[in-house]
This record gives sequence, C-alpha cells and structure tokens, in this order.
Amino acid sequence: MKFFIETMGCQMNEHDSEKMASLLTQIGFEEVKEPNDADIVIINTCSVRKKAEEKFLSYAGRIGGLKKRKKLIVGVTGCIPQIERENLLERLPYVDFALGPSSIHRLIEAIETAKAGQRFFDFSEDGEGSLCIRPTYTSKRVKAFVTIMKGCDNFCSYCIVPYARGREKSRDSKEVLDEIRRLAEEGVKEVILLGQNVNSYNKNRDDISFPELLEKVNDVDGIERIRFVTSHPKDLSEELIRCFGRLEKLCEHIHLPFQSGSNKILQLMNRGYTKEEYLEKIDALRKACPKIAITADCIVGFPGEEDEDFEETMDLVKRVRFQNLFSFVFSPRKYTLASTLPNPVPKEKAYLRLHVLQEVQRKITLEKNRELEGKKVEVLVEGKSKRSELELTGRTRTNVVVNFQGPLELVGRTVEVKVIKGYANSVRGVIEGYQK
Ligand code: SAM
Ligand code: SF4
Ligand code: F3S
Repeated sequence: MKFFIETMGCQMNEHDSEKMASLLTQIGFEEVKEPNDADIVIINTCSVRKKAEEKFLSYAGRIGGLKKRKKLIVGVTGCIPQIERENLLERLPYVDFALGPSSIHRLIEAIETAKAGQRFFDFSEDGEGSLCIRPTYTSKRVKAFVTIMKGCDNFCSYCIVPYARGREKSRDSKEVLDEIRRLAEEGVKEVILLGQNVNSYNKNRDDISFPELLEKVNDVDGIERIRFVTSHPKDLSEELIRCFGRLEKLCEHIHLPFQSGSNKILQLMNRGYTKEEYLEKIDALRKACPKIAITADCIVGFPGEEDEDFEETMDLVKRVRFQNLFSFVFSPRKYTLASTLPNPVPKEKAYLRLHVLQEVQRKITLEKNRELEGKKVEVLVEGKSKRSELELTGRTRTNVVVNFQGPLELVGRTVEVKVIKGYANSVRGVIEGYQK
C-alpha cells in the first residue's frame, strides 16, 4: 500500500511522522509524495495556535474531498485528536482513525481496523507512543532527531502542549545512546536531542542527568555535532551552561525561549523566572562560550500586556540581539489558564506589536549574517539547496544556513566555506579552490 504523511507541527511532530513512516515502510508500504497517489493519508496535526487548527481543518476538508473520488484511508494523528478526542471523529465523518501522540505505536493496528471497515481511535495519555519507536530510515541522512523525553509538566499558562502530549517522561539513557550509536554507524553526523524541556531529563528517575547524557553522546564515534531543543530558562543549570565550550561536539547554539520581557507578563504566563534572571543566564552562556548563538520564541499580545510591557520585550530583544527569533501573537487555547484571563489585547494592537518586533529582529539577524561576510565558517553539508539544483546547503555550528556551489559528493562532509554575502535568512558562500 502507498501512504502519504502531511506534517503540520513542531520538530517532535516531524519526528513522530518519521517514526510512523518507518513503521509502515518496515512492513513493505511505500511512502509517496502526493496524497493523490496514496491509499492512506495521515495528517499529523498541531494544536499550539488557532491558526494551526484552521490549517488542519482546511487540509482535512481537501482530503475528505479526495476520499469522495477514490478509495482512501484517512488518519489523523498528533496533538489535535488528543485534545478533541471523539469530537473530532464526530465532526469529520471521513476520518477512519485517530491517534494521540502517545498512541502512534498502534498505527498498523489502526490501519488494519480501518481496512476492515471500522473506525479506530486511541487517546490514552500514558502510552509509550513516540518513546518506544526507533525509526529506521530508507535513505541516507546527515542529521537525525533523537527523542529523549516526551510530554511537559510546566503548564505555562498559555500552552496546550501539556494537555496534548501528557506528563513528562524520560527515555532510558541506554536506549538513547544505543540509538545514537546505530545512527552513527549508518553515517549520521549530527543528532538533535528532542524534548519539551531537556533540563528536566530523568528528573524523577534513577538515571543520568541531561549534561551527563550530553557527555556520553559527545563520546560516540562518528557523531560530529550535537544539538538539542528545548531548554527552559528556569531550569537551565550551570552544569549545562558549562557543557558549551567544554564538549567539542556540542554546537555553539541554544534555543532559549523567553516569551516576554515583562516580569508582570512572565508571572501571568507561569514561566518561573524574571527578565533579569533570563538576562543573567544569557550572560553566563556567553561567558562560558563567547561564540554561542542564541535563538528564542516569544509571544506578544498576552492578556494584560500594556505598552510598557511590550517595551520591556523590545528592550530584551535589543539587549540580547538574538541570532533568530520566532514570535507569535497570543492565541487562546482550550483548557489553558490564559484563555480565561481578563484584559485581552485587541487583535490589531497585537499584530502591530508583532510587526514592530519582527522588523527590529529582521535587522538584527541581517546584521549578524552580514558580520559573517569575509569570514570562514565550518559547514556540515546537508544536501542540495531548496532554491537551486546547482547549490548545496548546510549549517554552521551556530545554526546559520549557508548556501554555496559544490559537488554532491560533499554531502555529509564538513567543509570550510568563505561567506561572501549575508541575507535575512541565510548566507551565501564559496568553497575556496572549487570552481564549477
Ligand atoms: N517546550 C518548548 C518551549 O518551552 O519553548 C516549545 C513550546 S511550543 C511548541 C513553541 C512556542 O509556541 C512557544 O515557545 C511559544 O512561544 C509559542 N506558543 C505556545 N503556545 C502559544 C499560544 N497559546 N499562543 C501563541 N504562541 C504560543
Ligand atoms: Fe508549553 Fe511551557 Fe511546556 Fe514549553 S515548557 S511545552 S511552552 S508548557
Ligand atoms: Fe508540537 Fe504543535 Fe503538538 S507545537 S507538541 S505539534 S501542539
């Protein structure tokens, strides 16, 4: 049978899609690039903001239309079914199966049931789901995700993730390390360790801590680069900060979402730190590793955010000078405390703030990318660039995308590239001595 997976969410969602694809290819199913060519379409959903939900509904409508024209099994997985449960099945009669993130290991059973003409769903919260599936890849890859934990116990007041992904649970370090060793044997050079809050890895278990895990991954032969997402500022330990600059394979990049620069808003968000504490952590990171690139997430238009609060956010952005910033307008989500808070910010005001913030950040990123002009950077070559067949693409250790001309044999190798031009989202470079 042929299957198609549409991935709509974050890196964990993307990795869950990879795991589902590997479950299906292991039993001889073939992955296709278009839903039109598929016998099974799986929509792996995200619920983090209303827009993600709308995107799902519109896409699901299209797939429902396709099902009227051909024989098709339609499955919905990920965070939306976990939140909506039976309502989703009621609302979308053409959906054959629905699985929450903790139940994706039951995919084959779900498909078999659908083939027999019955609907299948599993929304249990404590299933091993994505933790127990070790993906196998059909094509060679340079970098790979590795799940180290699932769920989240933080309950930031705006966030649906703890409801969609359940309580925090860490994966055995032995399992994690075995998987990384196997990936290294298959030629993977970079691993990205995944968890909603990696600093609480194994916090309630008798197993190694996150910095100890990093140390062990650093010792795996063949692995050249290590990254991780995400670290929560309140739990960013001194021990983890010291890993930067000390473990040679740990890339000089951290994604450290701050969400707001206003202490009043941070408290309403239940984030557990102040602006000053966040800035202290940034200082400590830069002291331990002066080259470190810092990226973050932030939310504008949170209930009660006044002009002064937004100014505090702008001040933080200008002070830290992030390499990159992912910014969003607050979106009220089901079950969350923030969706019940008074003093909503009018939509137009929130979008205006987002625009102001993004303009300032765009300039900062551009300036940072231009600062690289004339410099030589170490690039792990990932593949052909998206824009041009003739170009290769890769990233610096600080996570800057570099495009340059070169032969395909370089994929998987680390090369020195001289940056010739910095743009808003990437830089262009040349490999010295290489001419087309
Ligand atoms: N665990 C990670 C963390 O703590 O940063 C990732 C959380 S979420 C998948 C990614 C980002 O989405 C968050 O950092 C936050 O900026 C944003 N986000 C989450 N809930 C939101 C909401 N209700 N409205 C707008 N943005 C939201
Ligand atoms: Fe959501 Fe906060 Fe957990 Fe991140 S740490 S997933 S923002 S609740
Ligand atoms: Fe990820 Fe979206 Fe779920 S951001 S954890 S897929 S709600």
